[in-house]
Amino acid sequence: MIQNEIVNGIFARRSTRKFTEQKIDDVQLETLLEAARWAPSGGNNQSWLFTAIQNKEILLKINKMVREGFQIWIPDDDYPGKQGAKLSSQREDYNFYYHAPTLIIASNRPNYENAMADCALALENIFLAAQSMGLGSCYINQLHWLRNDTKLRDYLFELGIPKEHTICSSAAIGYIGKESNAPLRKEGTVHIIK
Ligand SMILES: Cc1cc2nc3c(=O)[nH]c(=O)nc-3n(C[C@H](O)[C@H](O)[C@H](O)COP(=O)(O)O)c2cc1C
Repeated sequence: MIQNEIVNGIFARRSTRKFTEQKIDDVQLETLLEAARWAPSGGNNQSWLFTAIQNKEILLKINKMVREGFQIWIPDDDYPGKQGAKLSSQREDYNFYYHAPTLIIASNRPNYENAMADCALALENIFLAAQSMGLGSCYINQLHWLRNDTKLRDYLFELGIPKEHTICSSAAIGYIGKESNAPLRKEGTVHIIK
């Protein structure tokens, strides 16, 4: 297989779920956000908004709202991943962004068919750029699940995220506290026709 910095970075990137308390510096943050902005977007729409939060009190307030929101907005027959998160969120020490010192929320304009695709590509750019800087990252879905939670959206609006935007995803970023093992990749998911 071909080896170069980008290919190696793709294989080395892992979802980090334990971070140290050390915050990334402003140049690192700027680089990650630029990497997001330079992702491809459908029709070159670039209708996304990346909101980076590094204020611990604000992050903890969002965490509290997520814990409350789960009990109200996630039905008991939702898919297992969400049920697991709902159950965990009842624990007092639950933290949906793994106490990462930086959370980047990707939102996008409503009724735009490529909203999720554009934000996902931007997030992968963030993850790979983070990996290249020796940082850890993780895709965080909770704010997407709770995108219609009015109390949470009121607060996110106070933080500058337009109410009409859909919350696509978010990225937890920071220094790695514990390395994650690489989950095995399933066989049979590639098909080559020549
Ligand atoms: C759409 C999507 C949603 C995800 N949501 C979460 C999440 O909310 N919390 C989490 O810890 N990991 C989340 N992940 C990370 C996956 O669990 C992870 O990518 C997968 O287990 C493979 O591990 P790796 O990223 O280390 O290769 C998500 C990944 C994707 C693509």
